[in-house]
Amino acid sequence: MVDQTFTLGGVRFQNRVFVASGTFGYGDEVLDLSEVGKLGGIVTKSITLKPRTGNRPRRIVETAGGMLNSIGLANIGVERFLERLPGLLELGTKIIVNIAGSTFGEYVEVLSRLEEGEGIAAYELNVSCPNVKEGGLEFGTDPHAVETITKSARERTRRPIIVKLTPNVTRIGETARAAEAGGADAVSAINTLVGMSVNRADRTSRLGTVTGGLSGPAIKPVALAKVRECTMAVKIPVIGIGGITTADDALEFIIVGAAAVQVGTASFAEPNAAACIAGGIASYCERNGIASVEALVGSLQIPAPPRLQT
Ligand SMILES: Cc1cc2nc3c(=O)[nH]c(=O)nc-3n(C[C@H](O)[C@H](O)[C@H](O)COP(=O)(O)O)c2cc1C
Repeated sequence: MVDQTFTLGGVRFQNRVFVASGTFGYGDEVLDLSEVGKLGGIVTKSITLKPRTGNRPRRIVETAGGMLNSIGLANIGVERFLERLPGLLELGTKIIVNIAGSTFGEYVEVLSRLEEGEGIAAYELNVSCPNVKEGGLEFGTDPHAVETITKSARERTRRPIIVKLTPNVTRIGETARAAEAGGADAVSAINTLVGMSVNRADRTSRLGTVTGGLSGPAIKPVALAKVRECTMAVKIPVIGIGGITTADDALEFIIVGAAAVQVGTASFAEPNAAACIAGGIASYCERNGIASVEALVGSLQIPAPPRLQT
């Protein structure tokens, strides 16, 4: 038996494959189509203080090798989420609640309210949200803001905190370091890349909000490089996200240094993708005589540069 377990802040997950926020609802919508009990955990859709209906349509556009979305954090709000939580805890896997906010105070309020809910395994802070008090700049692009949000959350919970980083920055290592300094147990990377799609016929953007977030296989090479940058910047675990569709994709992230992975867009085409990926990682380890997935984490071989002839 391959040891696939992953421990974060004292919480033990049965394996290292999670479904990514916003791509699997709250976890209970696709029960007929996926083996959720085989997942390391479910990361919920981002939860905000009040329910949100999200952005105007059109909110999803297919692109080459991926998709653009501008959902706009549509969600049921923390109160209705708490009513739904007991049912989610019956699903046979761990629940990680992803928190979003448009002010520092909103993150703290949502987390404080969730602290009253029993059974939540961990929190993931989605810092890729516009800060309404700073003219809409994303929190996650400012290391100081990332550290402040993380610290405020850390002061209010003993549950593990994962900070989900945006790739839309010059140096993701700096924001990873800020999350670590604020007391995060792990960082996850990446959220979507800003992108757009244009309809030449009527010269309009295909998305209602003009720009949106790019995800899917098209972003995997970018995500791998960002994950590597994070692993070089921090000592805490890095959770890899971005275009993971197969076990081979997940293994690439693990070899680069991801301690765990999340599967997003792939679940739309195949709701059981993440469970299959968890099984595929175990099979790969068995075939190659690897007793624990841990042994693969960060096993990337980088050839030494050739010596200069003098
Ligand atoms: C339709 C859609 C909705 C998403 N909603 C959220 C969200 O609410 N919160 C969040 O942190 N990330 C959200 N994401 C980002 C994903 O969790 C993930 O970081 C991103 O899609 C990259 O992974 P992928 O290429 O495997 O999809 C969303 C992605 C998609 C495609």
